[in-house]
This record gives sequence, structure tokens and C-alpha cells, in this order.
Amino acid sequence: MDREGLVRDAATVSSAEDLASLLRRLRRRQARMRKTRVATYRDLATRTGWSRGIIGAYFTGKVLPSVDKLDELARQLDATPTELGALATARDRVDELRPAPRQLPGDVPAFTGRAAALAVLDAQPGRGPAVISSVGGAAGMGKTALAVHWAHRAATRFPDGQLYADLRGSGRRPVPPGEVLRGFLTALGAPASQLSAGLDVQAGLYRSLLAERRVMVLLDDACDAGQVRPLLPGTPGGLALVTSRSRLNSLVALENARLIVLDRLDEAQSQHLLAARLGARRLAADPAGAAAIVSACAGLPNYLAYAAANAAAHPELGLRTVAGQLAASRPTAVERRHHAVPVQAF
Ligand SMILES: Nc1ncnc2c1ncn2[C@@H]1O[C@H](COP(=O)(O)OP(=O)(O)O)[C@@H](O)[C@H]1O
Ligand SMILES: [Mg+2]
Repeated sequence: MDREGLVRDAATVSSAEDLASLLRRLRRRQARMRKTRVATYRDLATRTGWSRGIIGAYFTGKVLPSVDKLDELARQLDATPTELGALATARDRVDELRPAPRQLPGDVPAFTGRAAALAVLDAQPGRGPAVISSVGGAAGMGKTALAVHWAHRAATRFPDGQLYADLRGSGRRPVPPGEVLRGFLTALGAPASQLSAGLDVQAGLYRSLLAERRVMVLLDDACDAGQVRPLLPGTPGGLALVTSRSRLNSLVALENARLIVLDRLDEAQSQHLLAARLGARRLAADPAGAAAIVSACAGLPNYLAYAAANAAAHPELGLRTVAGQLAASRPTAVERRHHAVPVQAF
């Protein structure tokens, strides 16, 4: 391969596979020039201190090397300064072309409160996942709302994308992690040929793809740590945010996860939530009715959201009537625990 050849071909690179084929050409040229055998992944692992797996992923185009990694690798393969520049430009082009998934659901309307939890998430050092649970594992406490709201706020810190999956852990059929993995791999641009491998292989590929990117992964409503573990990024560049009715103790113990436990809203926060959804004017016009709703909802955001939706849909009703209906239809704690009443309805 002549030197102009590589620089010329670098100009038409549009995928990680194209870039990998240039790396393989450099490797063959080096062997020819030095009159040695072609460097193996093992040789290059020894020279760079990186794992053989990641070097293999670079050479086959499964993973796009970071700017620094590509530079180091090409130097190891005796690339000239002009070639290094051409490869870096080609890499930037591939980076711009590759998919950056934006899977977050819409932000919660009129999100209120949770300042302490938001501050904890803001301070998340990027090491280990964050787990959002609720006191007593209660549903409707605002776990998903908090996670989605914070994820939108922090999205710019994860420019390579945001992945989202509803794991349906509190339903009867939690989603198997392999199914979620396939969706994530597809969203990250993994070739379809990679999607039939076993769970471990797919999880490895997933971590390799995330290793070079700043991606946030929101795993909503997990049933247990086993469902979550294959879906965690392996390196600190990405962040996993998990919500679960369970506190996922083993994740907290073993994966350095940070646990945030949500409690009921206090009276002022409940008022605030109602005002944000109904408008301060309607509350001010009927403070006793607003107080009755706040009292009937007992600080549960899902009840407050339901009451607000009801009141908004029926402007002719007084707030006290809305509160009365709520109290009448409100399931008992026991019913809630056994899902006798669909919690989503509130
Ligand atoms: N902080 C909040 N501000 C405004 N609305 C909220 C807040 N927390 C929860 N909600 C509303 O309450 C309802 C239940 O919240 P959700 O996050 O689904 O609960 P969980 O995930 O804990 O079961 C949703 O309709 C949501 O919009
Ligand atoms: Mg939820």
C-alpha cells in the first residue's frame, strides 16, 4: 500500500468498519516494511497495555476507537504524521455519522419538588449506577418522573445518546434483559449479525460499544439486580439510572450504586404540584378545596396527578368534590399492595 493510497482512502471512510480496514492495511504494511510477521492482537495488547478484546473490536470495526486510542494504535503501526492526521479526520467523520440514540420519554409536565434527590443525582460522580426506589416499595411515588426529569436535565452531559427501557419489573412479565440488550445494541448501530449471540457475548459487545461513548442508560422499573446487571455500562464514561420498587441491595453493595429513596411529598410540595398542574388561580379561588385534595392524596404524587387531571377535565366541579371522589375511589393500602386496583389509574 503506497502512502498516498491510505491518505486518499481515509477521505472516503464513513463507518467504523471502513476505518478498521485501514488499520488492517497499516498492520500488513508494517509487517512488509519491517520484514516481520503481522502483529497479532496479543502483540498489540502487550505494546499498548489494552485488552486483546478491545483491540480485536477496533480491528474488526465493532468499536470505534477514541481519538487517543486511534492515534496510539496507528503510531504503533508506523503511520506517518500525514496518515495520522488523515485517520483522525476520518474518525471524526465516523463519529458524526454514527447514531446517537435519543430514547427518553417526554419530561413530566409541571415537575415539582425532589430538590434533594436531584442534587444527589447532579453530584453522581459517574462511577456506578444510581438506584431510585421508594419508601416501602410504594408505586406512584414518582420514581420514573424523577428519573426522566433528571435525565432530560442532564442529557447534554451524555452527548453520545440516552437509552431508555421500561423493564416492567412490577408487572407480571418483567422484560428479559436479553430482549432489552438487543434493542440497545440496534440503537447503538451494532450490525444485525451480532444480535443472535448469547447473552454474555451481547453484554460484552454492549459494554465495548459504550466504553468509548458518553451515554446515559435509564432502566425503568427493574424487578431485581439480575435483570439490570447485563445492561450496565462497564466504564465511568456512561451512567446508568435505575428505578425499582426494590432497593436492589446487591447492586448497591457490589456495583457501587447510589441509592435514593423517595418518600411522600409534604403538604407544601403537594400544594405546589397541584398549583403547577391546575394553575395557582384555581387553587387560590378555593383554598379549602385544595387543602381537601392535598389531605386526601396523603403526599402521593400519583394521587395528586390524578386529582389534578380530574379537576382540569371538569372545570365545573369544585375542588372539594374532586377531593371527595378521590377519597371514595382510593384503594386501601392492602389493595394497593396486591395490585387489586391498577395503580396506573391513580
Ligand atoms: N415530582 C413530581 N412532579 C410532578 N408530577 C409528579 C412528580 N412525581 C410524580 N409525578 C406524577 O405522579 C405520577 C406517578 O409517578 P411515577 O413516576 O410514574 O411513579 P413511580 O414510577 O414511582 O411508580 C405520574 O403521573 C407523574 O407525572
Ligand atoms: Mg415507574
